[in-house]
Amino acid sequence: MKPTILSGMQPTNDLTLGQYFGALRNWTELQREYNGLFCVVDLHAITVRQEPAKLRRRTLDVVAMYLAGGIDASVSTLFVQSHVPEHCQLQWILSCLTSFGECSRMTQFKDKSSQHADNVNVGLFTYPILMAADILIYNADLVPVGEDQKQHLELTRNLAERFNHIYSDTFTVPEPFIPKVGAKIMSLQEPEKKMSKSDPNERATLFLTDTDDQIRSKLRRAVTDSGSEVIYDQEHRPGVSNLITLYHLATNKSVADIEKEFDGRGYAPFKEAVGEALVDLISPLRQKYLEIRSDEESLNKVIKMGAEHARERARRTLRKVYKKTGFVEL
Ligand code: TRP
Repeated sequence: MKPTILSGMQPTNDLTLGQYFGALRNWTELQREYNGLFCVVDLHAITVRQEPAKLRRRTLDVVAMYLAGGIDASVSTLFVQSHVPEHCQLQWILSCLTSFGECSRMTQFKDKSSQHADNVNVGLFTYPILMAADILIYNADLVPVGEDQKQHLELTRNLAERFNHIYSDTFTVPEPFIPKVGAKIMSLQEPEKKMSKSDPNERATLFLTDTDDQIRSKLRRAVTDSGSEVIYDQEHRPGVSNLITLYHLATNKSVADIEKEFDGRGYAPFKEAVGEALVDLISPLRQKYLEIRSDEESLNKVIKMGAEHARERARRTLRKVYKKTGFVEL
């Protein structure tokens, strides 16, 4: 049997190029070697106040983007988190094994509660336990996550081991899957910061739904560093290095070849070339996305099938967990 890989994204905004290179593209490459489960985590999204109509629309947007990016729904299980209520049922049991202190130490909780000081809800606090349930209920072996989610995965591992220790071996202890180097995309305006879908500066982020002109213009205005040489140097030239990474990911050219190609030519033609390379990459993706997104009936079929597969697996785990916990079987 193939090992299981599971990951998810929140439907809180259009997907960014950072999410594509950092996550989605890797998922599509892994889905044949692994048993892939990919979800849209709408339950997590409401830890921050969401407009219902927007949340509903964005959930399908993300499903369509997964498909456009290459997730094959006949190979992988593509589903919406709220369609599998077993995640929440397992979350309760895991909550009773998690200490208050453990949740308090989560840096994302600290960050988000200061960002949303007017809405520090309990869901935000227990968010990582739901994430642990997402992962453990399928006995995932590998979880592709970015740097910012590593602490949550560590908690997940601890909870799996704790349950196994108290009740006997039940859960697989998952490993993080860290994508290859260079997959971390930085802001186009403040290259010391990660590219974020919620950056207030619109020019900082490339969305997979951006038009060709928006892509070109964002690249032209991307912040570079003082100097004029196209040289990869993360520490001293974070702006240019980020653009080199993007060009490398879009064209597959090596960093050394890129440096040679633009030797002595200055930043402007380089930025122009990165813009064109990204248009060549994003434009067909966007077109495919728009086509898929326009057919809601098919999208609904995909997530229905995904939910059925996912629930069958989730139910099996939950039944075992309920039994071991000591609940009377119905
Ligand atoms: N917390 C993750 C994020 O914001 C999303 C997520 C929820 C997730 N459940 C997951 C990622 C399970 C991997 C596995 O990026």
